[in-house]
Amino acid sequence: MNILAIETSCDETSVAVLLNGFDVKSVVISSQINIHAKFYGVVPELASRAHIDNINIVLARALDKAHITFSTFKKQIDAIAFTVGPGLSGALLIGEMVSKSLSYAYNKPLIPVNHLEGHIYSAMLNNKLLRPPFLALIISGGHTSLIIVRKFGIYELLGETRDDAVGEAFDKVAKMLGMLYPGGPIIDSKSQNGNPYAVHFTRPYLNSSWDFSFSGIKTAVLNYIKKNHIHNESQVDDLCASFNQAIVDTLCVKTFKAAEHFNMKQIVLGGGVSSNSMIRKAFISLGKSKQIQVFIPSHNYCTDNAAIIGCAAYIKQLVIGVDYNIDQIRSNANSTLENWNKKYFG
Ligand code: KG4
Ligand code: ZN
Repeated sequence: MNILAIETSCDETSVAVLLNGFDVKSVVISSQINIHAKFYGVVPELASRAHIDNINIVLARALDKAHITFSTFKKQIDAIAFTVGPGLSGALLIGEMVSKSLSYAYNKPLIPVNHLEGHIYSAMLNNKLLRPPFLALIISGGHTSLIIVRKFGIYELLGETRDDAVGEAFDKVAKMLGMLYPGGPIIDSKSQNGNPYAVHFTRPYLNSSWDFSFSGIKTAVLNYIKKNHIHNESQVDDLCASFNQAIVDTLCVKTFKAAEHFNMKQIVLGGGVSSNSMIRKAFISLGKSKQIQVFIPSHNYCTDNAAIIGCAAYIKQLVIGVDYNIDQIRSNANSTLENWNKKYFG
C-alpha cells in the first residue's frame, strides 16, 4: 500500500510517499526556519503563507522522487494522510485543503492523523517490529507528554508539561544566550564541550504527579546569567551542558519511574528534542541498566516531517480501515490524542 502523507502543522511543509508504512520512498521537507528565526519563534500568519507558497513544489518533488506523476497518481497512490492537529490553525488548513483536493480528484481515502501520533510511532520507521504496550515520551517544541500506548491507537495520557514544552525551554534559554532560533540544536552542540555539573539547577521532579514543568529551570538560567558575568565560550559551554543535564535528569527520572510503576518494558521517544545527544545517551544507558528497551527515532525522523505522519496513518488503517467520511474530517488546532474509534466513519 502506498500512502501519500502531508504535514503542515507548524513551520515545516512536508510531503512523503511510503510503501507499506515503513519504506519511505520519498520525504521532502521545506523548513521555514529562516522566516521565523528573527522573531525567535514561529509567527502563525507567516507560517500559513509560506505553506501556501511551498506546498505544491514540495508535493511535486516528493512525487517525482518516488517516481510518481500526476497521471500515474491514481494507480500508484492508495490513500492520502494528513495532520489534523494539534498545530497552527491556518497552517493545518493548507495541508487539509491539499489533502482533500487530492482525495476528491483521485477518489482516494483520506486518513486523518494526530501530530502526536506521528511522533509516537516515528521510531517504527527504524524498528518496524516495535509493538505496544510501551511508554512514549514526546518531547518537542510544542509538547512534553508521557503516554502509555496500551495497543495501537489506545492511549493513556499520564502527564504533560504544566508550562513550557521542553523544546520551548531549550529555545528560550538559547535566546537568553544570544543564539539563533531554534536554539535546541545549538545548546546540544555547545553542551558537548561543557561540564554538565559546573552549575547546579534544581530538578523539577514534581514527585506527586507525572506532569513536567520547565519554566523554573529556564528562570534559574536567566537569574544565573544576570548574576554572573558570562564572558567566555567555555562558560557558555558549561552553562549549556548544566542546563541540558538538568533537563536530562528530569526527563529520565520521571520516565523510568513511570515505566517501572506501570511495568512497561519498552520506552519510546519522539519529537524534535529526542534528537538531543545527552538525552539519547542517557536514555539508552539507563535502559540497559534497568533492562528496559529504549527506542529512539533516527535524527531525521525526530523533527517534524510527513514520513512520521504516513507511518502513523499506515498503522491506523491496518487497525481501523480507511473507510472515512471525508466531509466529517476537519483539521483542529487543539485536537487532543484520542483513542482510535469510528468517529470519522460516515
Ligand atoms: O518536533 P519538532 O520538530 O516540532 C514540534 O512539533 O514542536 O520539535 C522542534 C523542537 C525545537 O524546540 C528545537 O529546538 C528542538 O525541537 N530540538 C532540539 C534538538 N533538535 C531540535 N532540542 C534539543 N536538542 C536538539 N538536538
Ligand atoms: Zn512535532
